[in-house]
Amino acid sequence: MNTLAGKKIILGITGSIAAYKAAFFVRLLIKSGATVKVVMTQSATAFISPLTLSTLAKNPVITGIADGDEWSNHVELGLWADAMIIAPATANTLAKMANGICDNILNAVYLSARCPVFIAPGMDLDMWTHPSTQGNIQKVLSYGNKLIEPESGELASGLVGKGRMAEPENLLKELIDFFRKEQSLTGKTVLITAGPTFEAIDPVRFIGNYSSGKMGKALAEKVVARGGQVKLILGPTKLKIDHPAIEIIPVTSALEMFEAAKKHFAQADVAIMAAAVADFRPKHTAKEKIKKKKGIEEMTIELVKNPDIAATLGQLKKKDQVLIGFALETENPVENATRKLTKKGFDFIVLNSLKDKGAGFNHDTNKITLVFEGNKTQEFQLKSKLDVADDILDAIENI
Ligand code: PMT
Repeated sequence: MNTLAGKKIILGITGSIAAYKAAFFVRLLIKSGATVKVVMTQSATAFISPLTLSTLAKNPVITGIADGDEWSNHVELGLWADAMIIAPATANTLAKMANGICDNILNAVYLSARCPVFIAPGMDLDMWTHPSTQGNIQKVLSYGNKLIEPESGELASGLVGKGRMAEPENLLKELIDFFRKEQSLTGKTVLITAGPTFEAIDPVRFIGNYSSGKMGKALAEKVVARGGQVKLILGPTKLKIDHPAIEIIPVTSALEMFEAAKKHFAQADVAIMAAAVADFRPKHTAKEKIKKKKGIEEMTIELVKNPDIAATLGQLKKKDQVLIGFALETENPVENATRKLTKKGFDFIVLNSLKDKGAGFNHDTNKITLVFEGNKTQEFQLKSKLDVADDILDAIENI
């Protein structure tokens, strides 16, 4: 889908010099098939005239809560839209959004909107980097809003740096991408393994690893954001996951994960193996807590190999199923990942290395390289695990 045909968009404009770009943006929105309603703060009207925008949008522009037209009802407007985009968003409006302040029509519509809200900040360099603005951004993002990062370059003040509102073409691309992805996994079931496995030694001890399950959670959330259903086979973690489209299948050991994966794989269109599975488990689990014994300075735990869950699914895999693996490496990363890719029958493998700062276990970020058949690789920067999940899903959709 390369258009916004049939989409209803609210464009909120606030008082930044970048407001002049709103005219171009409205034209692009209309050309791509969207219906556009513009809501402006009073200060935005000093930068660009409502008449210009209503002419381009082919709809009256709302500038005040007392406007008499049918769209001055902020609740109705908030319910009407498929998406709201606030572009430019000033530091002042961001602060109001962060704190639920509602002293103008734009903030009233924002608080009433049930649709996704995109924020495209536009302000001077120092205002953008100020801790209060950054704090407000974090708060606003924690409410589920989406940030379209400002760009770097020459600012209206003459300073050079980050703060310039993203160009209208880029704003449009973000919206189109969002609506395309929103539907791209509709009707698909994605099986995800995540978290560690605990291999019991006795009732109080186990062999485990540092996986937090965050990477798997991010994947699950991004699958449902694209309309898919998730079966998440989750090892022991502290994560809270509560979404009607995410079915959690809790497991503790590799053997339990193995049984659950075999059971659910047949109904899956895609399986993503993000779990850190113990390769070995104690041969015997003591029924009672193992006690220290006087004079015994060493003990040996005999281990036996766990089944390879991913490789088993690789053998069961049908032609129309997609199987993606992860590889956590500490040395010869691409070489080792390529070997696992072939051995386990993955369509591609997601390589992360513990040598990269901020990557791997427990971080909220990850740095990945996708490794495909034929030694083809695609490297990504350090990103949030949610953005990494998006990159992985994009690659799956391109298979
Ligand atoms: O959970 P987080 O804290 O967010 O951390 C994420 C992560 C680092 C755990 C994740 O990004 C990751 O790399 N997961 C795979 C870790 C791993 O154990 O890799 P591996 O190279 O040992 O295994 C290769 C692949 O085979 C993996 O897809 C693994 O799930 C799978 N495997 C391994 C052994 C086994 N017995 N069965 C398997 O299915």
